[in-house]
Amino acid sequence: MSRRLYFDWAATAPLRDEARAAWLECAGAEFGNAGSAHQWGRTAKAALTRARRTFASALGVERDDLFFTGNGSEANLLALHGAIAALPRERRHVLVSPIEHPSVLEPLETAARRGEIELEHLSVDRFGRVDPEILRGRCRPTTGLVSVQLANHEIGTLQPIAAIAATTRTHGALLHCDATQAIGKTLVTVPALGCDLLVISAHKFGGPRGVGVLARRRNVALTTPLSPGRQEQGLRGGTEDFASCVAAAAALTATLTEQVALASQLAELSALLCARLRERLDDVTFHSSETYGLPGLVNFSLPEVRGDWLVTALDQCDVAISHGSACASLASLPSPVLVAIGARERALHSIRVSMGRATTRDDIEDLVARVHAAVVKLRLP
Ligand SMILES: Cc1ncc(COP(=O)(O)O)c(C=O)c1O
Repeated sequence: MSRRLYFDWAATAPLRDEARAAWLECAGAEFGNAGSAHQWGRTAKAALTRARRTFASALGVERDDLFFTGNGSEANLLALHGAIAALPRERRHVLVSPIEHPSVLEPLETAARRGEIELEHLSVDRFGRVDPEILRGRCRPTTGLVSVQLANHEIGTLQPIAAIAATTRTHGALLHCDATQAIGKTLVTVPALGCDLLVISAHKFGGPRGVGVLARRRNVALTTPLSPGRQEQGLRGGTEDFASCVAAAAALTATLTEQVALASQLAELSALLCARLRERLDDVTFHSSETYGLPGLVNFSLPEVRGDWLVTALDQCDVAISHGSACASLASLPSPVLVAIGARERALHSIRVSMGRATTRDDIEDLVARVHAAVVKLRLP
């Protein structure tokens, strides 16, 4: 067996040591229910409050505008259905970028099917960028909500969120921003982005799987679509998994300390990967942008090599990569993101390589050698 290479950090990242240690500390003797009145409960509640404070301060919101959920997908659902339910009747026009994660597109499509909103898709350019000027032209007096992610999960494109927010603010519409792929690699706060609702997910930055976070600008109305209960300010009922929230907070603190260094390390590794792929495979096409892309995410395609074939071939050589997002990978579907950026003919061929803090230059050299060998084999008549 060869050295295993993990290049699927955008799907999920390994748990950080800081997160594991924090979880173990909370998950032993401290097993109380944060809603209980006795000392076990108070200890759990205090730990949960500290974790909430860490996230709130990092994301630039008040502590009671920070909600823990079961994952990033649920945080998107809560943000979108929660905001829509609270929108005035005359403000039910919603705009969304066509390259959002399914956990954003699907709740909006459901709301549109139920007749709760009038949904329209924005156009994107060949890099997947939403032009704030085009958005300005698409906003109407009835537009109540706009949803644009910070970084794309398949091609890594970073959106000009601050400029988009200036437009939505002028039109009195809310801006929801899914920053799940961007956190830890670029600045993510509600004030810096100018959005009203911000979503992240802990497992993308070394926290445990199963913790999502929704941050809300002060006074943005949300009506829960979930079982309300008394937890999370009545937005999400159910006993809180405080140990996982504490572990997620520990991962966030460690991640933000490394952010600047990590972003430049990942940018260098991405450039090395692109250069080496160009040297070894002269018909490679890159779908991630070197100018607008998230550091550490490279998306490419090769003629006559289907993405799912290459994923399987590389898996057999101990390499983890992905064909688009994790959901698209499993289903071997054409990438909706590539279709939206005008690369329909390559939509079944795309490959996403995503890196993280443990990725090295040697890993890149090894990866390219194994990709090259796999491609040669796949192309044999
Ligand atoms: C951009 C984006 N949004 C949301 C999610 C959903 O996060 P989770 O896996 O925590 O549900 C993902 C996960 O891949 C993502 O990439």
